Amino acid sequence: MIRIDTVTKRYPDGTVAVDRLSLDIPDRSITVLVGPSGCGKTTTLRMINRMVEPSEGAILLDGADIRKQPVNTLRRSMGYVIQNAGLFQHRTIVDNIATVPRLLGWSRQKSRARAAELMERVGLDAALAKRYPYQLSGGQQQRVGVARALAADPPVLLMDEPFSAVDPVVRKGLQDELLRIQDELGKTIVFVTHDIDEAVKLGTMVAVLRTGGRLAQYAPPAELLSAPADAFVEDFLGADRGIRRLSFFGSDALELRTEPIVAVDSTAEQIAARAVTDAPCLLVTGLDGRPLGWSAPEDLTAGAVHTERLISCGRPFVHGEDSLRAALDCAVLSPTGWAVAVDGAGRAVGVVSQQTIGEAIRGAHAEGRAQAKAGR
Ligand SMILES: Nc1ncnc2c1ncn2[C@@H]1O[C@H](COP(=O)(O)OP(=O)(O)OP(=O)(O)O)[C@@H](O)[C@H]1O
Ligand SMILES: [Mg+2]
Repeated sequence: MIRIDTVTKRYPDGTVAVDRLSLDIPDRSITVLVGPSGCGKTTTLRMINRMVEPSEGAILLDGADIRKQPVNTLRRSMGYVIQNAGLFQHRTIVDNIATVPRLLGWSRQKSRARAAELMERVGLDAALAKRYPYQLSGGQQQRVGVARALAADPPVLLMDEPFSAVDPVVRKGLQDELLRIQDELGKTIVFVTHDIDEAVKLGTMVAVLRTGGRLAQYAPPAELLSAPADAFVEDFLGADRGIRRLSFFGSDALELRTEPIVAVDSTAEQIAARAVTDAPCLLVTGLDGRPLGWSAPEDLTAGAVHTERLISCGRPFVHGEDSLRAALDCAVLSPTGWAVAVDGAGRAVGVVSQQTIGEAIRGAHAEGRAQAKAGR
């Protein structure tokens, strides 16, 4: 564990970048530092690997003051990733990734083999190995940055706005990749961002800092969204924190309805039997069980549904896997007001109304309040 113990950083010109900050950063999880520009995020990160020395207070790694070990040993145990990757422009991708192993005295062959393994791990095509950084897209360069930081298998990874310079789609891919890598490798990651959505998505714990380098709140993301400590944190979380909080509730408890579903080859009797329901429309599924679209019962012709006349059912949610937020989104976007639930293979398993989802949301909130009261 990394313990930041009442640390203050005052730069020579008198700027207090970090003010009596205390944080316990748990092992093998992602801790995110988030806050407005200039609130001391980078300074805090750099104090962890001693690129910046604190003016007061101490930082402990597994209980020992980090000043007690040689700075090179410390830095070798901590990979560092920055915005725009900070790659060596005159070195090929494979040599960039192999930098630290080479410094540690590994043979060229072993270093390159390690680099190749890491390229695969971070989702880079082996064909890119011989290229130079300028021949890669921003997202690919960022992956190289992550691979390079992981090369010597350090237990700690420090990441300073690593994904800020890429577009939202690439960024989402990089975030998903990081979560996947973290699942496999279990590093202790300290991740800096000024994007609260990124913080909520990636963080096991999130520290919100305010200008002047003071800690505003330190909590798991779900708690941050449900109980912001003060107006600053609430403001920083943004207007739709209620909706975003729904990402932390599963859709597995949603009660699905199966009566309003008919197969594309249904007989007149089957359609008539299914039409006795409070759902405004019937969901038509293909022979493979996938949802095709909605239709009013009277518009359905037995045995030969005109699929081109169906009302689009939009994107379904995966029951049990997707969150209540995803389910609500489907229902809100659906012309019928009902969301379609599918299984992992994309087969329709049920439909659910906005009203039922609304009830599930109220239930989840009540449960959240009960847990908060029980002191969780
Ligand atoms: N070497 C330095 N000398 C003097 N002041 C500095 C120095 N480095 C940073 N600062 C100041 O310390 C404060 C915190 O800077 P820091 O870089 O840690 O912020 P940050 O949260 O990372 O901001 P950003 O989101 O813009 O990257 C700022 O007011 C900055 O101007
Ligand atoms: Mg910074």
